[in-house]
Amino acid sequence: MPANAQPKFLASFGRNRGRSLRPYQQGLVDELLPKLAPNPSAPMEGYAKLALEIGFGGGEHLLAQAAHNPDTLFIGCEPFINGVAKCLAGIDTKKLPNIRLFTDDARKLIEALPDACIDSVFILFPDPWPKARHNKRRLVNPETLSMLARSHKKGGRLLLATDHVDYSVWMLEVLQNHPDYEWTAKCQADWKTPPKDWTETKYQRKTTDQGREPLFFECVRNQWGH
Ligand SMILES: C[S@@+](CC[C@H](N)C(=O)[O-])C[C@H]1O[C@@H](n2cnc3c(N)ncnc32)[C@H](O)[C@@H]1O
Repeated sequence: MPANAQPKFLASFGRNRGRSLRPYQQGLVDELLPKLAPNPSAPMEGYAKLALEIGFGGGEHLLAQAAHNPDTLFIGCEPFINGVAKCLAGIDTKKLPNIRLFTDDARKLIEALPDACIDSVFILFPDPWPKARHNKRRLVNPETLSMLARSHKKGGRLLLATDHVDYSVWMLEVLQNHPDYEWTAKCQADWKTPPKDWTETKYQRKTTDQGREPLFFECVRNQWGH
């Protein structure tokens, strides 16, 4: 990209690097990570199902999902390299064959995926961007949902989680105004209780320790529409 070119997407994440990686982690980034690159034009690799986790942090949920669903290929997207290194350590230790990692903005990958190929999408505790002037950086927005809807199978699952009250209202507004997604909750317990296959994430643990309440929005990709 030329130095003065505008990036295609407004950044929805902060820094992509924290403290230096330990030699074991750096080794995984150098040796294992290149072997786990997804193939956007033919992402399934013979697996029965495809799932996408956007912003997996340290990978707690991604690793547990992959271990419990060996018939599904999971593509995890996360630009924060320290989180990626942590997830790589989990993949290495648990010898999980069904995870691919994309270490850039997930929207670049989604754009390159074929139509209607993803079964499930997880966006768990996306950065809240709480200041009003930063709201436009929120990952959950009509444009992201439209991009996702193209590559999401009709009837497919979308799980959103947040602990941020203002973002929860924003998410529901985006969802309810979007023709391709439907929020399936019937009662309060549906958004206050984690899904059955839930694994607590690092961010969630922090947030609960600080007294905030996680909310879970189960949605479905509509059968009708494009
Ligand atoms: C608040 S953290 C939550 C991490 C994790 N889901 C958890 O619950 O512990 C949000 C994460 O989303 C990642 N993220 C934000 N925008 C992203 C994007 N466009 N593509 C991929 N990851 C993104 C950030 O780097 C960050 O690690």
